[in-house]
Amino acid sequence: MNDYFTLNNGVKIPSIGFGTWQTPDGETAENVVSFALKNGYSHVDGAAVYENENGVGRGIKASGVPRNQLFITSKVWNTERGYESTKKAFKKSLADLGLEYLDLYLIHWPANLKQFPIADEINLETWRAMTELYKEGKIKAIGVSNFQPHHLKPLMKTEIKPMVNQIEYHPGCLQEETVRYCKENDIVVEAWSPLGSGRVLSDEKLIGIAEHYSKSVAQLCVRFALQNGIVPLPKSVTEERILENRDVMDFEITKEDMAEIIKMGEFGGSGLQPDEIDF
Ligand code: A2P
Repeated sequence: MNDYFTLNNGVKIPSIGFGTWQTPDGETAENVVSFALKNGYSHVDGAAVYENENGVGRGIKASGVPRNQLFITSKVWNTERGYESTKKAFKKSLADLGLEYLDLYLIHWPANLKQFPIADEINLETWRAMTELYKEGKIKAIGVSNFQPHHLKPLMKTEIKPMVNQIEYHPGCLQEETVRYCKENDIVVEAWSPLGSGRVLSDEKLIGIAEHYSKSVAQLCVRFALQNGIVPLPKSVTEERILENRDVMDFEITKEDMAEIIKMGEFGGSGLQPDEIDF
């Protein structure tokens, strides 16, 4: 198990990221990001819509870790899709974070046909802005989030192909078709809610499997994503959990247990479907 994956443009992405969705802005964001970066994480996953990029940026500075040793992600929100507004949104995130460049910038959700008759066109215009920012060196890698194969296909025909797709992924939510498509097309998959936002942690079966390794279910979930070649982004505002979620390199889930988890079927998911959402 490496401590990084390599994207299709050669950029290395640390294999576990620190999630910041639902982390309150201000002191909390600042303190937890700084704590995580001082304690072995080097990768922070954020987004404009999390409304905490000021605090996250201050945490990055407060950690004292040199910028070139960090991997920082943000995402363009749904209201900012399109060429001009994506560029503006990017600038704002950069300013809020207090950074000169981003390591990864993602389209947060695909435009869908339920809301936009020209959804693919909107995604392509957003992608055109991201591609330019990438070529200007302001972003080291670009990608998407919550895209299924049919959203990805038009982007695959453009000059620069997505390097990452960040999707909901945890035991009980495996999105097998999307993961397969990404692997076949050299797109690294990242897992949002790798712990099912906490919903899968009380599952009896997972508790039983985690016990085989004297690990917590949270650690089992993080390790499960990694062993499937996926970058987990566990979120916590609790110091001991932040440390726990990173301590997963000293055990290996057996093939049999991996298969048991895969067999569990659907549970604990958010229920959010990219073609159905209306936000
Ligand atoms: P908290 O932030 O209060 O510590 P996900 O990363 O799947 O979105 O899950 C995040 C949720 O899981 C948060 O509610 C977080 O709580 C909780 N959580 C994170 N790590 C752990 C852990 N190691 N044990 C138990 N709960 C955890």
